[in-house]
Amino acid sequence: MPVARLPLCCLLLMFLLVVWNTAGTEVESCLQVNTTLCVENSCTLTDNTTLLCCHFDKDFDLKQDVAAKIATKNANIRYLYVYNASYDTLDVRWTIGFNFDTLSFTGGKLNHIKGNLSNTTECLNFSGNSISTIDDSVFASLNQVKILDLSRNNLSSLPESIMSMRNLTLDISGNFKLWCTDIKKLLAQNRSDPVDFRNPNDTYCLANKTFHWFNSTDKYSLKTVEESIKVELTCPQACKCDATRTLFIDEEPSFTVTADCSNSNLTSLPANLPQNTQYLNVSNNNITSLAALSIDPTYEGIRELDADNNFITSISELEGTKFISNFRVLSLQNNRIATVPTYFLTDTFSRNRALLRINLAGNKLSCECNTAQALKKWFLSNKNHIKDIEKVLCANLPIPVVNLEISEICAAKRVLTDYIYYIIAGEVLLLALLISKVSYDYWVFRTVGHLPWPASKMPKLPCDWLCEA
Ligand SMILES: *[C@@H]1O[C@H](CO)[C@@H](O)[C@H](O)[C@H]1NC(C)=O
Ligand SMILES: *[C@@H]1O[C@H](CO)[C@@H](O)[C@H](O)[C@H]1NC(C)=O
Ligand SMILES: *[C@@H]1O[C@H](CO)[C@@H](O)[C@H](O)[C@H]1NC(C)=O
Ligand SMILES: *[C@@H]1O[C@H](CO)[C@@H](O)[C@H](O)[C@H]1NC(C)=O
Ligand SMILES: *[C@@H]1O[C@H](CO)[C@@H](O)[C@H](O)[C@H]1NC(C)=O
Ligand SMILES: *[C@@H]1O[C@H](CO)[C@@H](O)[C@H](O)[C@H]1NC(C)=O
Ligand SMILES: *[C@@H]1O[C@H](CO)[C@@H](O)[C@H](O)[C@H]1NC(C)=O
Ligand SMILES: *[C@@H]1O[C@H](CO)[C@@H](O)[C@H](O)[C@H]1NC(C)=O
Ligand SMILES: *[C@@H]1O[C@H](CO)[C@@H](O)[C@H](O)[C@H]1NC(C)=O
Ligand SMILES: *[C@@H]1O[C@H](CO)[C@@H](O)[C@H](O)[C@H]1NC(C)=O
Ligand SMILES: *[C@@H]1O[C@H](CO)[C@@H](O)[C@H](O)[C@H]1NC(C)=O
Ligand SMILES: *[C@@H]1O[C@H](CO)[C@@H](O)[C@H](O)[C@H]1NC(C)=O
Repeated sequence: MPVARLPLCCLLLMFLLVVWNTAGTEVESCLQVNTTLCVENSCTLTDNTTLLCCHFDKDFDLKQDVAAKIATKNANIRYLYVYNASYDTLDVRWTIGFNFDTLSFTGGKLNHIKGNLSNTTECLNFSGNSISTIDDSVFASLNQVKILDLSRNNLSSLPESIMSMRNLTLDISGNFKLWCTDIKKLLAQNRSDPVDFRNPNDTYCLANKTFHWFNSTDKYSLKTVEESIKVELTCPQACKCDATRTLFIDEEPSFTVTADCSNSNLTSLPANLPQNTQYLNVSNNNITSLAALSIDPTYEGIRELDADNNFITSISELEGTKFISNFRVLSLQNNRIATVPTYFLTDTFSRNRALLRINLAGNKLSCECNTAQALKKWFLSNKNHIKDIEKVLCANLPIPVVNLEISEICAAKRVLTDYIYYIIAGEVLLLALLISKVSYDYWVFRTVGHLPWPASKMPKLPCDWLCEA
């Protein structure tokens, strides 16, 4: 009867799916034990393989009772479940000899875990204590562990030994003081068996917010940390990128990236910065041009650019760029800038009143007699934005632009111009003398008829008869 077989087949398929599904979730959890079977300050066997111990307030008592129960029952106990261990320090060394494959210490007041665990451990649950310290030795010999649950504790960092665990399911949700640096380290390993996070939606971490004007931390979701890792992977080769500062877009914390490309022998600005790069340090390189700021769209969001100690010759490329309308700090100390495009900088300063700053110390500007007055005036009226103004010098005179004596720089010029005046005066005088000589000769010739010197001394030429006639 083919009609009846179809539902049977479907039932079988559903059954298989259910079995497959439960198998899938089982991997995510250590075996659960019903804590209503608890007996105060005592251990009980809940089945042939599981020992349940409850409400102990001394590590020593727990250890004694576990050893006693295992000895008397002579059972093959694989699983130790300790509920509400209400003491501070757990030294796991006493568990080694029993070779449990599952160990749970949940719902207690444990604060510090020390010692070594047995290498037979596959499932480990420390959820719901107040653990703030786990010695690195605790996990040092775990080479078969599959699930590690450290959720709902008080951890601020993860033991280093976690970094080398393979095929790991890790639960670190509900630790509200955890620094992001360790999670980043786990994620950035870029390995073939990425850590499988249990309860990822409840996993958060903290990162220092390092804006200049206040110190605080931000809370990041696991998803955001994962995104930040991606951002850092797109960092140019010569740079180190750090995506920890927040930027709030639609209430969701996102990243602003700091790229440090200093001391890298760069001869031009690096191309393709990570998304949201706001702080770029390219100091101590051999960069000659700021052109990337006007052509590379990844430079549009930069707020702070430190390009000290390079060979940059001009800032005029910045005119009309998104950078010039967004920036807060532009540091160009010890470069080769000779002219300051005052017209568009004045415009920029007037649009973003308070915060803008430009550093120009150690550049040698060309100070001409005809422009020096305006340049000095411009520097003085923008001294709020150019804090190192006293160290911006003239190329032709070794004095700060703001200390320029206009009469002095123009006097230095006059030596040269005066000389030119003398030459011109001399030429005019010569011309006048020449004209008077020619006029005198003509007068003499008309009145006396003598040819003037040197015409009278010249030998006759074959064509002279023409003139004489
Ligand atoms: C660890 O124990 C807690 C509390 O009993 C439980 O909610 C959690 O699912 C357990 N973790 C694992 C991985 O089994
Ligand atoms: C526990 O062991 C006893 C005998 O040793 C056996 O009869 C019983 O079925 C076992 N129970 C379980 C849950 O394995
Ligand atoms: C945990 O155990 C302590 C004694 O060690 C007890 O006073 C306390 O009530 C227990 N807590 C719970 C939730 O059972
Ligand atoms: C576990 O450690 C013991 C010695 O402490 C060693 O003999 C055994 O081979 C180890 N097992 C594994 C799977 O590494
Ligand atoms: C968590 O740890 C901090 C110290 O890092 C401590 O001040 C705080 O009391 C702890 N909180 C709990 C619930 O144990
Ligand atoms: C215990 O941990 C220490 C430090 O990580 C390690 O050197 C030692 O070999 C471990 N002992 C055992 C028995 O695994
Ligand atoms: C991790 O799991 C994969 C597949 O589940 C397996 O091929 C690999 O050997 C495992 N790696 C380790 C170190 O256990
Ligand atoms: C975690 O959050 C995402 C989106 O916010 C959601 O799609 C997913 O179902 C959630 N996972 C769990 C286990 O709640
Ligand atoms: C965060 O800042 C504090 C104080 O400035 C410092 O002690 C701590 O080490 C920093 N943490 C990280 C992860 O950078
Ligand atoms: C922020 O931290 C720095 C150095 O750690 C310190 O100099 C500064 O005063 C702090 N600022 C505030 C507002 O606490
Ligand atoms: C920069 O180049 C010089 C020689 O040209 C070399 O000695 C130095 O190691 C280089 N520095 C870096 C950071 O590449
Ligand atoms: C950068 O300039 C210095 C001199 O200031 C020179 O020694 C070095 O070789 C230059 N590096 C590159 C990569 O051009």
